[in-house]
Order: sequence, then C-alpha cells, then structure tokens
Amino acid sequence: MSASTIPATLIPGDGIGPEIVDSVVAVLDALGAPFLWDRQDAGMAGIAVAGDPLPQATLDSIAKTGLALKGPLTTPSGGGYRSVNVRLREAFKLYANVRPARTLVPGGRFDKIDVVLIRENLEGYYVAHEHFIPVGSDPHAVAVSQGVTTREGCRRIVEYAFDYAVKHGRKKVTLVHKANILKAITGLFLEEGRAVAKEYEGRVAVDERIVDACAMQLVMNPWQFDVIVTTNLFGDILSDEIAGLVGGLGMAPGANIGETAAIFEAVHGSAPDIAGKGIANPLALLLAAGLMLAHVGRDDLAARLTTAIDATLNLDLVRTGDLGGKANTKELTAALIARVK
Ligand code: NAI
Ligand code: MG
Repeated sequence: MSASTIPATLIPGDGIGPEIVDSVVAVLDALGAPFLWDRQDAGMAGIAVAGDPLPQATLDSIAKTGLALKGPLTTPSGGGYRSVNVRLREAFKLYANVRPARTLVPGGRFDKIDVVLIRENLEGYYVAHEHFIPVGSDPHAVAVSQGVTTREGCRRIVEYAFDYAVKHGRKKVTLVHKANILKAITGLFLEEGRAVAKEYEGRVAVDERIVDACAMQLVMNPWQFDVIVTTNLFGDILSDEIAGLVGGLGMAPGANIGETAAIFEAVHGSAPDIAGKGIANPLALLLAAGLMLAHVGRDDLAARLTTAIDATLNLDLVRTGDLGGKANTKELTAALIARVK
C-alpha cells in the first residue's frame, strides 16, 4: 500500500454532474482516496468555458493522467455536436465498457443480482457511418448505416471479458450476438469469441445467447448470468436493462478502459429534469469511483467504500428519492461520510 497521490482528471460535467461530483469528492476525501484532482470542463460546460464541448485542455489532462472521473455530459439528439462520450472513447481507444450491476438495496423486484456486462466500446453500429439518400423532394427518404467489427476488436473485447472473469473469480462468460441474422458484423464476434473461449477452457465456462432471447432471460432468470460480453449497440441496450434489475440508473456505474487511459462514470445522463434541485443520487458516480480505486490497485479502499454504501442504505436507511427514500444529496453525502470515516 502506498500513501502517494495519484493524479486524476475530474470532469464535473452538465446538469446534475457538478452536484454529484461534489458529493463524490467529499466522500472520497473522507475515505482517504489517493487522487489528486485536475478539474477540467466538457459538454455544455466546455462550450461555455472554451467554446468546445471537448476542450483541448481536457484532452491533454487525460492524456497526462491516464485516469478520469467524469460527470454526465449533455448531448443534443439529432443535430448539434457529436457525443463527447463517443469522442473520448475514440480519442483514448477506450475499447472496453465495464458495467457491473449488484443489488445494494434488497427487497426490489429482483434480489441478489450480481451481473457484469462488458461492452465493446469502439466498433459496431456506433462508428455511425451514416447517410441519407434523397428521393424526390424528401432529403431524408432513405437512411443508410454501416457498422464495422474487426477480428482484432472482437478478440480484444472477449479476451478482456475472460481476463476479467479470471481476475475477479467469476465462473462463466456469456457471448451475446445476433449471428443468425447479422452473419458478418456479429458472426465475426461469435467466431472470434468461441476461439478465445477455447483458450480459457477449464478456467472459465462459456455460454452463448442471441441478443433478443438474452434480453428476455435477463428478466425471467437474471441469476443464470455472470459475465456477459457483447458488441457495442447490444451492450448499450442490455446494460441499461441490467441497471433496471438493481434499482435503476441511480445505482449503475461504468468504466471505460483502454490501454493508456481509463475513464469512470455513472451510466445515467445529466438528468436536466432534476438538475439544481439538490436531490440527485450520487451513488452511481460513487460506485464508479469505487471501480476507479480498484483499477489503481486500492481494492482495500474500494471494499471500505462498498461497505459504507451498504451501511448507509441498509442500516441508516438514508436513501434518495429515486430509491424510495426522502434524503437529498447533501443528507446522503453526510451519511456516507460518517460511515467511511
Ligand atoms: P438521464 O439518465 O439523464 O435521466 C433519465 C431519468 O433518470 C430522469 O428522470 C432523471 O431525473 C433520472 N436520473 C438520472 N440520474 C439520476 C440520479 N443520479 N439521481 C436521480 N435520478 C436520476 O437520461 P436522459 O434524460 O435521457 O438524458 C439527459 C442528457 O444526458 C442527454 O443530453 C443525454 O445525451 C445525456 N446522457 C449522457 C450520458 C453520459 O454523459 N455518460 C449518458 C446518458 C445520457
Ligand atoms: Mg446507454
């Protein structure tokens, strides 16, 4: 264990971002987390400060620290600027999106959920090679989209999933695909996935599901799943479904992992409907900070954080409105600080 500090970029972000980031930083300080924060802007805040939703200073900071905790960023739908989240993934080649979902508040619709979804983060339909074909007077009469998957990209993400399973003592990896219909773009994922699975034979079991059946089985019997690995679009959809199994977006953290940088965030967005009201749940971002602690080798602090969150929710019964409680962000933060000290 080292007492030295670890430089890390901190992006407060938009909407509820600054509120939940303040809360998380206060809890991490009380915990004695080693991070030395370099605060940077992105999203609407980036436009306000630097005229760019992803300012160069922010990119430079992440390139230097290789580590960031990021609040949610507002992305205009349809027109407007390109998603900063997608740009960050591309800039730092953050190929693996890791979304663990564990039940922290028992008694919900599903109990004792413990599933990790690993999503390919750079390829598939999210490369968004898209265009419209005009017909007559309608410029948007036909829409065309091309997805891309590569053997190398498939291998990298499935290897990451199996390595993750080995490292975290997990028993099974499920490959999720739609190779019966999309024989090239997801068939390649399945082909390479099976090849990688062979290399882990005897250490980690492998299983396969077609994505639509998987979506149903996740609500019929989620306990059969352990680690799920899938392509970008399917992973986006299934990870929100899995977040729903454990009490919704307020409890879902995510890690974006590349070879030279890692960015940790909540799965939820900037929640403009409750921004500024002081009632946002900071736990998804706090859980992301827990993943960040484990990432830098401080499993001891990550474990203490998890214990404190569990005690705050289930012994002190301090919960925000989205979890059926009455606490505001400040009250929950104070309760967490009392528990981590
Ligand atoms: P959202 O996740 O911001 O909100 C969906 C619903 O969940 C809202 O009712 C909101 O109040 C609630 N909610 C979300 N987080 C919460 C929290 N921590 N505590 C309590 N309630 C919470 O999704 P929405 O409304 O679709 O998107 C809003 C903006 O966020 C959009 O501009 C979108 O592009 C962006 N977004 C950004 C993400 C990121 O930066 N990683 C991820 C998802 C969306
Ligand atoms: Mg999503």
